[in-house]
Amino acid sequence: MQSRGLLGIEPLTAEDIQKILDRSRFYQPLQARTGKKLTSLSGKTILHLFYESSTRTRTSFEIAAKRLGADTLSITAKGSSVDKGESLLDTMNTLAAMRPDAIVMRHASSGAPHFLARYLETPIINAGDGTHEHPTQALLDALTILDHKPSLAGLRVAIIGDIVHSRVARSNLHLLTKFGAQVVLCGPPPMVPKELERFSPLVSRTFRIEEAITDADVIMMLRVQLERHGSYLVSSANEYFRFYGLRLEHLKSAKPDAIVMHPGPINRGREISSEVADFPRSVILNQVENGVAVRMAVLDLLFPSN
Ligand code: CP
Repeated sequence: MQSRGLLGIEPLTAEDIQKILDRSRFYQPLQARTGKKLTSLSGKTILHLFYESSTRTRTSFEIAAKRLGADTLSITAKGSSVDKGESLLDTMNTLAAMRPDAIVMRHASSGAPHFLARYLETPIINAGDGTHEHPTQALLDALTILDHKPSLAGLRVAIIGDIVHSRVARSNLHLLTKFGAQVVLCGPPPMVPKELERFSPLVSRTFRIEEAITDADVIMMLRVQLERHGSYLVSSANEYFRFYGLRLEHLKSAKPDAIVMHPGPINRGREISSEVADFPRSVILNQVENGVAVRMAVLDLLFPSN
């Protein structure tokens, strides 16, 4: 992680992940303090380059870097020279020439940060690449689960929704199975590819939300990513909600202490009802809060001298 940044969960060992989670725990209490400013990244410059929309990831990376004392700059594709036809590699070489210490990037194409990491010496942190990986989301999800459960091993985690287009699902699959959790994938058949069952003996799939939720310790809902597949997989929000939207009555068959998660942004009335999203067992805002601690840990571990 130190020399190449953080490109995904797949190449990390359980020990690597544990180290990031341990460091995140160190930063968790800081979030509630009045004085949050540290100096460990003082003198470092972090560029945030977002080719896709983001509220949570972009803001929390920026807050994390600032809380560690780094200088930050945020660039979106709109309003940059990308609008004038500059290629991704030329843009990145241009930015790297200004000698930032790390680049945090989100891109619509799977593999974009991996491609750039082959050419640039500047460490790259993947803030989501296409349908491939969203490593810091899986890390903050794990941290949030571990705030409520003693261990990931043996947990039954239901991941429900648009799995096929979800980088969050893919990063979580890597992370959860490395730690021995059982993962049940659920959604309409075109959204839950059969090959994911071959991912690990710990992974199974069902098309029935009731079956996925039965005895679940963790229910992780996913957004339907209309921007990636148009509307051909979903006839209407109402119909999707009828079969795959999480409602209060579903929670009766989960474990009594089951938690409800969603990476956001949530679409109330499509993936999740308001009663569940705002329910005491919903940890959606805890996930957002943990995003800052996890991103502080990732930035911190990037610079070994700190
Ligand atoms: N979870 C997540 O990646 O949210 P944003 O798109 O708002 O960053």
